[in-house]
Amino acid sequence: MTQQIKSFDDYKAVYQKSVEDPEGFWAEQASTFTWRKQWDKVLDWNFTEPNVNWFVGGKLNITENCLDRHLETRGDQVAILFEPNDADAENITYTYKELHAEVCKAANALKANGIGKGDRVCFYMPMVPELAIGVLACARIGAIHSVVFAGFSAQALADRIKDATCKAVICSDYNSRGTKNIPVKKVVDDALSMDCDSIEMVLVHKNTGGELNMVSGRDKWWHDEVDGQSTACEAEEMDSEDMLFILYTSGSTGKPKGVVHTCGGYMVYTKYSFENVFQYQEGDIYWCTADIGWITGHSYIVYGPLLAGATTVMFEGVPTYPDAGRFWQTCEKLKVNQFYTAPTAIRALMAQGDQHVTKYDLSSLKVLGSVGEPINEEAWEWYHELVGKKNCPIVDTWWQTETGGIMIGGLGEHSPMKPAHAGYPLPGIQPCLMDADGKELEGNDIEGLLCVKYPWPSMLRTTYGDHERCRQTYFSAFENLYFTGDGARRDKDGMYRIIGRVDDVINVSGHRMGTAEVENAINEHELVVESAVVGYPHDIKGQGIYAYVIVSGDIEDEDAFRKELIQVVVKEIGPIAKPDKIQIVSGLPKTRSGKIMRRILRKVASGDTSNLGDTSTLLNPEVVDEIKDTALV
Ligand code: WTA
Repeated sequence: MTQQIKSFDDYKAVYQKSVEDPEGFWAEQASTFTWRKQWDKVLDWNFTEPNVNWFVGGKLNITENCLDRHLETRGDQVAILFEPNDADAENITYTYKELHAEVCKAANALKANGIGKGDRVCFYMPMVPELAIGVLACARIGAIHSVVFAGFSAQALADRIKDATCKAVICSDYNSRGTKNIPVKKVVDDALSMDCDSIEMVLVHKNTGGELNMVSGRDKWWHDEVDGQSTACEAEEMDSEDMLFILYTSGSTGKPKGVVHTCGGYMVYTKYSFENVFQYQEGDIYWCTADIGWITGHSYIVYGPLLAGATTVMFEGVPTYPDAGRFWQTCEKLKVNQFYTAPTAIRALMAQGDQHVTKYDLSSLKVLGSVGEPINEEAWEWYHELVGKKNCPIVDTWWQTETGGIMIGGLGEHSPMKPAHAGYPLPGIQPCLMDADGKELEGNDIEGLLCVKYPWPSMLRTTYGDHERCRQTYFSAFENLYFTGDGARRDKDGMYRIIGRVDDVINVSGHRMGTAEVENAINEHELVVESAVVGYPHDIKGQGIYAYVIVSGDIEDEDAFRKELIQVVVKEIGPIAKPDKIQIVSGLPKTRSGKIMRRILRKVASGDTSNLGDTSTLLNPEVVDEIKDTALV
C-alpha cells in the first residue's frame, strides 16, 4: 500500500506540495506501480486543444497492477466477494490467484475469437463476477471496454455500439434483480437488429438459465469459449496514453458522449484516491453498491480496489430485496469496513423505517461514503447516526464520469466534515470557482461555477470519435480551465458544497440524464409536437423528471396517452428516464429568438409560481398563466 494521508495537518502539507510541484507529486504516486517501461516525462498538456498526456512514454498493463503484482503477497486473499441477489445463497469468492486465472482464461477466449488491441468490446451485463472478469480480460489484451448499464433500452444500447463501432458484445442470458428475472440477451438481439454492422460476436454468459435465441455463427456461450482456456495470458504492453475504456454519459445535448479514459493516469489516480478517501487498511472488506455500468463501479468496484489489493464486494441485487434491510444485513454478514453508496438509496431506505437498520450489528463499519448527487442534511444525519452510530466519518465524494476519480471529498476520519459538504479537494486537484463573466472568485464564502485549473491523471482525454465535442463541452466555457457543469459554494472554512448542475443535465436517483435526451425520446411519439423536460425536487430521487408536452389534435384519454409516452421513453432510453410528471400544454414559453425559457418551467415544476420574473418580453407570455394553472404539483 502507498503512504496514506494520516491527519488533517498531513493533508494540508501534502496538498501544498502537490500544488507547488505537481509533477513531482504524481511521479511519486506513479512510482508505486509496476511499469514495463518508466515514463520519459510526467506531464505534457494544454487545455486549449485540449491535449493532456500523463506519464509520457511509459509502458504498462493495468491488469498486471490489479492482479499479477499481488500474487506473491496476497494470492490467497479474496479479491472479489460476490453477494448474489438471493440473500440465502452462498457467497462466491475469487482470490487474487483465482481472479488472475479467470481473467487470463477470458482474455485468451477473446483473442481466440479475433479480438485484440484497440478493438472495442461492449458489455451489457448485470452485476455478476463475469462482468468484472470480462472487463479486466479486455484490459489484459488491450481491447477497449465500453460497459453499457444493463437498464438501458435496446435502442440506447444500439446507439452506443454503433458510436464506438464495437466488435463484440458480452452479455448475460438473464438478470436476477429482486423477484424479477429480466431478459438481457433479448435486449442485445433487439439492439443488433438495428444496423450494428460492426458486431462479429456475442458472448453470452449463462447466469440464470432460461429460454434463449442463439444466432449461429454470431452467438457463443461464455462457458464454451472461456472454460477450456489456459490460465496464463501474457499481458499486452500498453502505452500510458492508450485507451483503456469508453463510458457513455449524458450531456446537455441529445446524444450521449463516449468519455475516454487512458491506461496510465487512470491507474495511478484510482488507486491513490481509493486508498486515501476510504483509508483502506490491509484485510478490510470494502463495499461499493454502485453498478459497474457507471463510472463509480469502474473506478471503485473494479480498478481502484483491485489496484490497492483490496477485497471488493460485488452485489448483484437491489437494496430492498428481500427487504429494506438488505444492505445492513449484508454489512453484518460480510463484516464490511467501508461502505459506499448513493444518497438516493439512503433516502429510500430511510423512508422504510429505522427498524431495518437497528436490528443488525454494524460495528465493523469504519468509513461511510456518498456519491452521485448532493446529499441533503436529513439523509446525512440518518446515515451518520443510524448506520454509522456516530462513529464513522462520512466521505461525501464529488466527482464525474469525466474526472475518472474522486476530486473533492473527505479522507476517512482525517478531514473535518459538515453535512451536505463534499469538503476539500484531494491533493493534486486544483478546483476554482468562476463567475459568469469568466473571472475567478477569490477567497471564501462565495458561490460560482466549478472548474479545475490544472490537469490530473484520470481526467478524460477526449470524447470518442469527436474531439471537438470534448473541447466545446469542457474546455471552451473558460480559457485554460476544465469546466465541470456544476455550481458550487466555497464556505468560510474553504469547504466545497456542490449545488448541482448549471446545464441541462439532471440527476435522477444518482443517474445522470440530459433533458434533451428525454425530450428527443418523447418527441418520437407521433402526437407530440414539441416537448420540454426539466428536473424538479423529489424526496427520494433527488430530482424527478417533469415533462411539458404540446400535442397535435385532441387527446381523448390523457392517462392512456401519458402511459404511451412513458413507453416511448422506456423504449428509446430505458426505465431510468421515465418522466414522473407529464403536463400537456398548448405552448411553451419562448424568447423572441425562439429559445425555451427553461427557468420558468423549472420554477413551475418545483411548485413555485410566485415570482416568475419578467415574462412580458416573451414571444407568448399568455402561455405562462396556462402552464401555472394546469401545473401538476
Ligand atoms: C453530481 C458520478 C453533489 C454532480 C460519480 C456531477 C454530486 C455529476 C456528487 C456527475 C456529490 C456527483 N455531491 N453532486 N458528492 N457526486 N455529483 O458522471 O452534478 O454519473 O457533475 O459521476 O453528479 O455524475 P456522474
